[in-house]
Amino acid sequence: MSELNLILLGPPGAGKGTQADRLREDFSLPHIATGDILRAQVAEGTELGREAKSFMDAGKLVPDEVIVGMIVERVAGGDARDGFLLDGFPRNRQQADALGEALSGLERHLTAALLIEVPDDEVVRRMAGRRVCVKNPTHIYHVDFDPPKHEGVCDQDGVRLIQRDDDKEETIRTRLEVYHAQTEPLIAYYDGAGVLRRFDGTRDPDEVHAHIRATVATLRLEENL
Ligand code: AP5
Repeated sequence: MSELNLILLGPPGAGKGTQADRLREDFSLPHIATGDILRAQVAEGTELGREAKSFMDAGKLVPDEVIVGMIVERVAGGDARDGFLLDGFPRNRQQADALGEALSGLERHLTAALLIEVPDDEVVRRMAGRRVCVKNPTHIYHVDFDPPKHEGVCDQDGVRLIQRDDDKEETIRTRLEVYHAQTEPLIAYYDGAGVLRRFDGTRDPDEVHAHIRATVATLRLEENL
């Protein structure tokens, strides 16, 4: 069976992590989330984490030298050899070129760039209400739109839910500016390459999931034809 090499694109708070958590189970793909990797490094106090923290807290991108080699290596080996779901990478043209070159060097190609579209004012509302599991940050909730069964407690791990450090209103504004300036141009880049698929991220999380799942299932069938 052909591999699925997928990236999730979209503004902060579009629901990339929410959908990735569902899709990785549907298609047995490793979910590689650069934000989660960086936050784990910050929590462990590694050199990489110390370097990344000030950029993350300010809502800016960490420098390419910090992230590109790490992700390219991750995509090339181990459980990602048979496909992957990248979330948060690439975020600018340099990162997209680096990913493309790494894949062609391995005689692989990107199956699709899955774009989740959400307007800025909705992003701000979502981030203010986002809560994540203290043990596993891929378990994501929203106090109004996707609440846990018991307030403040992760459904899957039974532990405390917390707010992310970069979910403050002024940081959210900077993250949106960075997205529009640096990441949004990748929409045209992947559209030009014929791999862009668009999804309306303002719908209910389960509806968004159903649309993306159906598209990816079709892409997999087409890859196998
Ligand atoms: P990262 O962690 O990647 O953050 P992001 O891209 O800004 O995306 P988010 O995780 O904030 O949002 P999401 O789209 O995953 O939304 P979610 O599913 O949580 O990056 C953080 C930082 O790390 C960056 O600022 C940068 O500094 C650094 N970084 C990371 N990658 C980098 C790279 N490649 N290069 C350089 N620097 C990098 O959903 C949001 C909320 O909405 C949740 O509460 C959820 O429950 C709710 N929700 C989800 N879907 C719906 C829906 N359909 N309807 C209603 N509510 C919904």
